[in-house]
Amino acid sequence: MQLLDGKALSKTIQKEIKTAVEQRIQEGKKRPHLAAILVGTDGASQTYVGHKVKMCKAVGFQSTLLQLESDTSQADLIKHIQQFNENEDIDGFIVQLPLPKHIDVNTITEAIDYQKDVDGFHPQNIGRMAQNSPCFLPATPAGILELLARNKIETSGKECVVIGRSNIVGRPMSLLLSRNNYPGNCTVTLCHSRTQDLAVHTRRADILVVALGKPEFITADMVKEGAVVVDVGITRVADASRKRGYRLAGDVKFDEVAPKCSYITPVPGGVGPMTVIMLLLNTLRASDKE
Ligand code: GUN
Repeated sequence: MQLLDGKALSKTIQKEIKTAVEQRIQEGKKRPHLAAILVGTDGASQTYVGHKVKMCKAVGFQSTLLQLESDTSQADLIKHIQQFNENEDIDGFIVQLPLPKHIDVNTITEAIDYQKDVDGFHPQNIGRMAQNSPCFLPATPAGILELLARNKIETSGKECVVIGRSNIVGRPMSLLLSRNNYPGNCTVTLCHSRTQDLAVHTRRADILVVALGKPEFITADMVKEGAVVVDVGITRVADASRKRGYRLAGDVKFDEVAPKCSYITPVPGGVGPMTVIMLLLNTLRASDKE
C-alpha cells in the first residue's frame, strides 16, 4: 500500500507556483491576486478561507478577504460580486460555500464573471469542462486528478466508482474521469443517496472516490483488493482527548481499508491540501490572461 500524500505534493506545487510568481515579478508583471467572500460565521468555512489567504501569502500572491454578516441580503452580495468582477486588480475570486439559507447558490455562482471564477463553479466553466474545452476546473476534482497523475496511476479502462453527486466534487469528478484524456478514460459509476446496495458497486471499483461526508462509512468489506481509494470526506468528530475537542475523520475507515489498497489518501493530508493548491494554480492561470 502506498499513501497518496497530498501534503507533500501540495508543497512541491507550492514551490512551483512561488517560482512562477517570482519570474512574473522579474518580468515587471503584477502579483496574482485572489479574493474571497465569506458570508457568516461558519467555523469550518472560516478555517478554510483563512487557510486559502495564508497560502496566498506563502506563494507571493496578493489576497483580499471580504467578510460579510450572515444576514447580508442576496442583492447586497451580488453588488459586492459585481465590484470584484469590475476590479481589474483582482484576477480571480471565490464565494465560500455553504451560503446562508436565504441566498440562492446558483444565482450567486452565475453572478461571478466566469473568467474570474477560479472555483470553476460557473455554468460556463462546467459546460466547457463537459466539452473538454479550456476552463477553470473545480479545485477538489482537479486536485484528485493531479494526485493520480503525479503518482502515475493508470486510469485507462479502469472501473471507477464515485460516491456523492455534489456540484463541487462528485458530479465534476465523474465527468473528468470519464473524459478521453489522462487521467480519465475510466468506466464511471456515480453513486448517491438513492443508490441501492452501494457495496455491490464499491466492490467492483478499481478506483473509488468517496465524497459523501459520513465519517468512516467505507469499511474493508466494501473495497476491492488492490483498489485506489481517494477519500474526500473531512468531518469534525467530537474527541475529548484532543485539545481542540475534535478530530478530523474521512469517509473511509482508514486503518482497516488501507491494507487492501494499492494507493490510498490519508485524512488529513490527502485531498484537502491539494484543493487549496489547485485554487492557487487556477488563480495563476487567471492572472496570465493579462
Ligand atoms: N466549500 C467547500 N469547498 C469549497 C470550494 O472548493 N470552494 C468554495 N467556494 N466553497 C467551498
